[in-house]
Order: sequence, then C-alpha cells, then structure tokens
Amino acid sequence: MEQLKQQIREHGVVLSEQVLKVDAFLNHQIDPVLMQRIGAEFARRFRDQGIDKVVTIEVSGIAPALMTALALGVPLVFARKQQSLTLTGPLLSAQVYSFTKQVQSTIAVAASHLKAGERVLIVDDFLAHGQAARGLADIVEQAGARVVGIGIVIEKSFQPGRGELERLGYRVESLARVASLEGGEVRFID
Ligand code: G4P
Repeated sequence: MEQLKQQIREHGVVLSEQVLKVDAFLNHQIDPVLMQRIGAEFARRFRDQGIDKVVTIEVSGIAPALMTALALGVPLVFARKQQSLTLTGPLLSAQVYSFTKQVQSTIAVAASHLKAGERVLIVDDFLAHGQAARGLADIVEQAGARVVGIGIVIEKSFQPGRGELERLGYRVESLARVASLEGGEVRFID
C-alpha cells in the first residue's frame, strides 16, 4: 500500500535494526484518513471471504481493526491483556510471549463474543514473531470459529512471524513488508 509506505518513509523512525517507531501516525498519534484507507484495503483483500467478525488485540490493533470492521460492515472484538471489571463470565484465553518485551501474558476474550462457525479476520498493527496473531487464532479456534485470514499493517519480514503463521496454514496479507532496518534505513519488499 503505497500511501502507508510513504508515511513510513517520511515519519517512521528506525530505533534499532529490529524496531521501527511509527507513533506519529499509527500507534500513538493516529492519522484517521490513513487508518480509513487501511481499513478499506483490508476489506478489499478479504471481502470475498464471508467474514462475520474482525478480531484484534488491545491497544494498537484496535484502530486498523475498527476501520476494517466498519468497511466490512461487521463487529470488531478485541482481546484484552489486562483483567477488566467488565470482563466477566466464561473467557477464552491464550498465552502470548512478547519477544520485544520478554514477558509472557494472558490475553482473553469473553466467550459470548465469538460463536462456533463464525468466519474471522484477525487484524494487527505489527507482525514480528507472530505471537500475538497465534494467540488470537488460538482463541478464535477455541470458540469453534475459523480464522480465514490475518491482516497486518506493518510486517517485519526479517523476523519469523509470517513464516510461522503460513506454516500453520493461515493466509497473511500485509500492507507494508519491511525487508530490513539496517543502517537506519527502511527497505521494503516490492
Ligand atoms: P509478535 O506479536 O509478532 O510476536 O511481536 P512482539 O511480541 O515482538 O511484539 C510485542 C509488541 O511490540 C506488540 O505491541 C507489537 O505490536 C510491538 N512491536 C513489535 N515490533 C515493533 C516495531 O518494530 N515497532 C513498533 N512500534 N512496535 C513493535 P504491544 O506491546 O502489544 O503494544 P500495544 O498494542 O499495546 O501498543
């Protein structure tokens, strides 16, 4: 998605060979027009999949997932990382290990928000090691629902996430694929 790549070139900051900061438009300050186009692009790529629900994880997945759900005309469900007063009743949960933060956390969704047989699109802002997407897919499958695709805004293709997810049989669509952050420069695949 050219407009996204342009924003990354102009406003992205390479913090290290592993980490790209995009908080000027994606996950701290948010560009709503870009986010709307991201949602429209995921909807275009997955429209023929009969999607019933979009699923993401708080916090930074919510903006692109919400715009995707709006474009598809379906609800959005986000997994929580923190216990919440209102997260009551039966839960579906999974363990997610963050290589970036080196912590294991439990993510959870109220079981009432996912139904057996539903066709689910997972959306997230970054794909690094694929742990968040795997945890979300685990939760979707515990509900008896089916993951029909995984939509990623920025994929770090030099990390193993895509390979892991494809090995498990998931279709991964990324809007910007970063080949490398070496030398402080963002290089894209295609
Ligand atoms: P994984 O889910 O693909 O395995 O990734 P990882 O554990 O490495 O990522 C943990 C957190 O760090 C995630 O956000 C992820 O979006 C974010 N992240 C990973 N690589 C980058 C990067 O290069 N740049 C930025 N800006 N973020 C990155 P999180 O901790 O869950 O944050 P939030 O969603 O609550 O904001």
